[in-house]
Amino acid sequence: MKITRKPFGETKDGKKVELFTLSNNNQVSITLMNYGGTVTSVNMPDKNGKVENVICGFDKLDAYTSDKFKADCPYFGAIIGRYGNRIAKGLYKIDGKEYHGAINNGENHLHGGIKGFDKKVWKAETFENKDQVGVNLSCFSPDGEEGYPGNLNVSVRYTLDSKNCFTLHYEADTDKTTVINMTNHTYFNLTGGKKKIFDHELEMPSGKKYTETIDLIPTGKILPVKDTAYDFTSKKKIGKDLPSPDGYDTNFVLDHPKDTLSLATILSESESGRCIKVYTTQPGIQIYSGYYNPEFTIDGVTKFGKYSGVAMETQHFPDSPNHPEFPTTLLKPGEKYSQTTQWKIG
Ligand code: BGC
Repeated sequence: MKITRKPFGETKDGKKVELFTLSNNNQVSITLMNYGGTVTSVNMPDKNGKVENVICGFDKLDAYTSDKFKADCPYFGAIIGRYGNRIAKGLYKIDGKEYHGAINNGENHLHGGIKGFDKKVWKAETFENKDQVGVNLSCFSPDGEEGYPGNLNVSVRYTLDSKNCFTLHYEADTDKTTVINMTNHTYFNLTGGKKKIFDHELEMPSGKKYTETIDLIPTGKILPVKDTAYDFTSKKKIGKDLPSPDGYDTNFVLDHPKDTLSLATILSESESGRCIKVYTTQPGIQIYSGYYNPEFTIDGVTKFGKYSGVAMETQHFPDSPNHPEFPTTLLKPGEKYSQTTQWKIG
């Protein structure tokens, strides 16, 4: 096991950013930076031993801090918070008091608002022992930031182990009741970016239901996936029966014991022989097939674009603060927010 850290440039307001490389002895390595807690590459061998990066990301900080990246907001690899996914019109009530979240997606609040956790420079500390290496990231989100109540202390621990398991552990506490729904926004492409993700296969044995939406905002109905395009309870190609030309942007309700790390999805691709298994303690997972993924031209090479990666965002359900019937996203003073997701890279 090995971990290295090196300078990775500065943000436009002069904050220093570092790049961390976590690697094990099975040719698996992960790079991440403390700007946005962003995972910038996941490198793994294919069935012939060829190592390639299987996520959408860049090897330069400027690409992430560019005006184009901010305007197109694909959130490649980033930590999302305080509230991942949408809050309708940014409005919600806590104990009868109305809060107005920053509006940054049509008329809605998305992924923490205008300056979410994806745009913060996190404090970073590394750790290593015989079987694992990792980075502890922490940041502070003041009362009122992006409209949220409460001073929030947040930490995310990323760990790679000798068995090719990458763990993302989120913790937070607050001094006023607030809402929280953290996730990571990595888009996978197991062909190493050579092809679109239509032939990737997805399997979600516990994804038996999904939250119905209109304009991506839940109606409150939770519907069975059976006999619909959303049925991935057995292995199916993502491109096989897209529900619309825009593909999938859907929260699946995971049928597993509360707060227990359980299998959510298996993503595989037969030509490369690569596979990622996602485990989580969260009650839901947003499958977003990347229809709005922008193209980027860097050093004369154009990359990414529509369907260039699939995001598997483990999370609570969208707009939960306005749906008391959904698992709660409230965090109260004295409580500890704690969620874990694992990618088994195989
Ligand atoms: C959302 C999409 C959004 C994308 C990029 C995903 O998590 O579900 O609706 O377009 O993030 O912002």
